[in-house]
Amino acid sequence: MLLQLALDTPHADTVRRLLDRTAGDVDIIELGTPLLIRYGVDIIAGIRRDHPDKKILADLKIADAGAVEAALAFDAGADIVTVLGTAHPATIREAGEQAKRSGGRVMADLITVREVDEAVSLARRLDRSGLDYICLHTAFDARRQGGTGGQGGPDGPDDPARTLESIGRVGAVVERAGLAVAGGLDPALIEQLIPHGPDIVVVGGYITGNPDPDRAVQAVQAVRQIMETVHRTDG
Ligand code: 5RP
Ligand code: MG
Repeated sequence: MLLQLALDTPHADTVRRLLDRTAGDVDIIELGTPLLIRYGVDIIAGIRRDHPDKKILADLKIADAGAVEAALAFDAGADIVTVLGTAHPATIREAGEQAKRSGGRVMADLITVREVDEAVSLARRLDRSGLDYICLHTAFDARRQGGTGGQGGPDGPDDPARTLESIGRVGAVVERAGLAVAGGLDPALIEQLIPHGPDIVVVGGYITGNPDPDRAVQAVQAVRQIMETVHRTDG
């Protein structure tokens, strides 16, 4: 199981300072959507130079022009690029074909899917299409507003805990792709998710939300500790 650190703050200096202190404890550095919108994919190259041994994911959430946009991220040094799971199948195919040409990987993000049944059937189709990763994801805004629908259904609260209800069913149909989980994760939630066997846990705000870098280091270590403890208990 890998830890992906999501860097969503749109301030390059803050991101670099955070990475100086935490990169050693994370497996995948995610350059978040707000950061990429502000600086463009050019920011990837500098992070690549500073952290040559880390996987870098560009969270572009591609919705169209799959090959062109994926190539921008791969050419700048990303290893993995995200595409919306609900994008047109042609877009997802184009991104996947570009990944093969560039030696990269594609993660399909289910962030726009609100119904568990839809998430299950889409995940099954994406998995069969040979996609590298599928990410079960509760959106920031849905969480902030609450009660407006989400992966738990249109009437359910948009609580990250609803992810627990989805991961069992989605995980059961994902056979070839790696399964990632994202959206408001903290050690308590990760502890409950781990028995469902995610390959990647994506953590952003829990680690980056505190301006004190010492607290960010402590938060990464807390996540690592829970990942290792639950693994050991699993035997
Ligand atoms: C939001 C994202 C975030 O990177 C992802 O949700 C992880 O951040 P957090 O742990 O703060 O939810 O892509 O669209
Ligand atoms: Mg993200």
